[in-house]
Amino acid sequence: MKRSMSAGGNGELRSSRSTSGSPVSDADPYQVRRSRVSDVRHIPRLQELLFEAWRSGAIVSRRSPAELEAAIRDRRAVFAMRGELLIGVGIAHPWQEDRFVSHSEMVVARGFRQRGLARRIKSKLIEISRRRWPGAIILSLTLSPEIEKLNKSSGYEPVPYCDLPTDPAFWRGCDGCVHYGHLKRNQYQDCHCWAGLLTPPGVERDRVVPKDALKRPENDSFYSKRRLG
Ligand SMILES: CC(C)(COP(=O)(O)OP(=O)(O)OC[C@H]1O[C@@H](n2cnc3c(N)ncnc32)[C@H](O)[C@@H]1OP(=O)(O)O)[C@@H](O)C(=O)NCCC(=O)NCCS
Repeated sequence: MKRSMSAGGNGELRSSRSTSGSPVSDADPYQVRRSRVSDVRHIPRLQELLFEAWRSGAIVSRRSPAELEAAIRDRRAVFAMRGELLIGVGIAHPWQEDRFVSHSEMVVARGFRQRGLARRIKSKLIEISRRRWPGAIILSLTLSPEIEKLNKSSGYEPVPYCDLPTDPAFWRGCDGCVHYGHLKRNQYQDCHCWAGLLTPPGVERDRVVPKDALKRPENDSFYSKRRLG
């Protein structure tokens, strides 16, 4: 098989064929697609991407290999590929009986950033989430200015933490973060991340009163309603 390879300015390999023989188009050398079961072979590379991002200071949820595998098999992951090389990822996770879906583990490999890959991953995640959980509110919790920018231009609305899921399993995703102590001290009602929600068309979002307000006496008419109009 004829193969031509040369190193790009950032060390990236340019090739008309990937190492496995998968064609790489010159017009769009990247494929952004939903995961499939056979992608479990990319788990070591996926862990490498997440670890590299974490080591360079990014706040990325910690997921075990088993959780990553479950997401891949369940086709909740979106992969950006260059031929056979995994270069970007994002994963959708449903919470609270599918009332919420978060998009996390958004990472693009160094050397492939600022080419619109995160934008493509995000729009694929939104498309998958809308189809699979049509009534779910999509949420994002991020310290990354790039992801915040991306979210805002995708229609996410900034919200206070009391509007986020109350499911403890959701918040366990934060326990590897350097700010986790701060989050816990604030009883999961505030931290450094930007929080945003993308509500499906036609769905009215519940506006939840902060936890502290719920400590008010039940018989006090002013505080007795949990939901505001
Ligand atoms: C955050 C990250 C995924 C972005 O990936 P990317 O492929 O470079 O992003 P894109 O090229 O799609 O750009 C997304 C938006 O961010 C903006 N952006 C990207 N890099 C930027 C930078 N260095 N400074 C300012 N804005 C930037 C882009 O302009 C774009 O917005 P626009 O389309 O409105 O112009 C990537 O930088 C990364 O992996 N970082 C480390 C891990 C991390 O922090 N993940 C976030 C966890 S929540």
